Amino acid sequence: MSVTVRVPAKVNVQLAVGAARPDGFHDLANVFLAVGLYDEVTATPSPGGLRVTCSGPDAGQVPLDRTNLAARAAEALAARYGRTPDVHLHIAKDIPVAGGMAGGSADGAAALLACDALWQTGASRPELLEICAELGSDVPFSMVGGAALGLGRGERLTSQKVGGTFHWVFAMASRGLSTPAVFREFDRLNEGTEVPAPVASHDLLDALAAGDPDALAATVSNDLQPAALSLFPELAETLAAGRDAGALTGLVSGSGPTTAFLTRDPEAAEKVAEALRASGTCRAVRVASGPVAGATML
Ligand code: C5P
Repeated sequence: MSVTVRVPAKVNVQLAVGAARPDGFHDLANVFLAVGLYDEVTATPSPGGLRVTCSGPDAGQVPLDRTNLAARAAEALAARYGRTPDVHLHIAKDIPVAGGMAGGSADGAAALLACDALWQTGASRPELLEICAELGSDVPFSMVGGAALGLGRGERLTSQKVGGTFHWVFAMASRGLSTPAVFREFDRLNEGTEVPAPVASHDLLDALAAGDPDALAATVSNDLQPAALSLFPELAETLAAGRDAGALTGLVSGSGPTTAFLTRDPEAAEKVAEALRASGTCRAVRVASGPVAGATML
């Protein structure tokens, strides 16, 4: 018997970042949108104990030890229910690794849902979301999907209404960026300045609710973008190439280095994708739209 869960990537349409807190985290006003690039996690009983494997073009970059959020999810659920995490987790990976699209978080949410079904723990949805929040700031959103505003570390979610489908192009960079390193660079760049408390943009939430790509393009923002560009200056060329190709806007996704380009319709997305592929400013290009559902059992 095995259970497979499909889980989407995310893009942050707003990422407002406050000053570093005493615990090292930053308060955020984080508007997530789940988009149709997916990982699949399959949980199968493994009498030999916890084991993680991974397939896909970037599989070599995925840690298979206990630092993998999928492994940590299985351990957290097993500990809570007093059982051993005797499970083999296979990750079929399509979300870019270390890309700012919550690929690791997605695998954590998917593994949690898969193990929960396999072990028939009977855990409630709020309990699962609580474990998600312990695993990482972005993990609860990977579970719920759709669109949501995340406050606190980003883990306190309120679902948001979305009035249409948004069409995106994602440009994968030649190397990854570490999320803690990007937050550290944010702190360094803001040293000596008063960082305002992060607030969600009402205009942006209205644009989402209206399903209006032009209004969304006019309101997207990412406070981590200067930090990501400071650590990875070549991303400016990718952003310029996507905008020149007719994207409504382009921004760094989360902590990067994946860049995200909003377009008006699927045809425009294909055109921007073609131009980005030809530009030589990125490693790979994908088209995906959102919102889509969160972690889902297949
Ligand atoms: O929560 P998560 O484990 O995904 O966070 C990874 C790292 O990103 C944290 O260790 C921290 O350095 C940074 N972070 C932060 N503030 C947040 C979320 C993440 O500083 N709200």
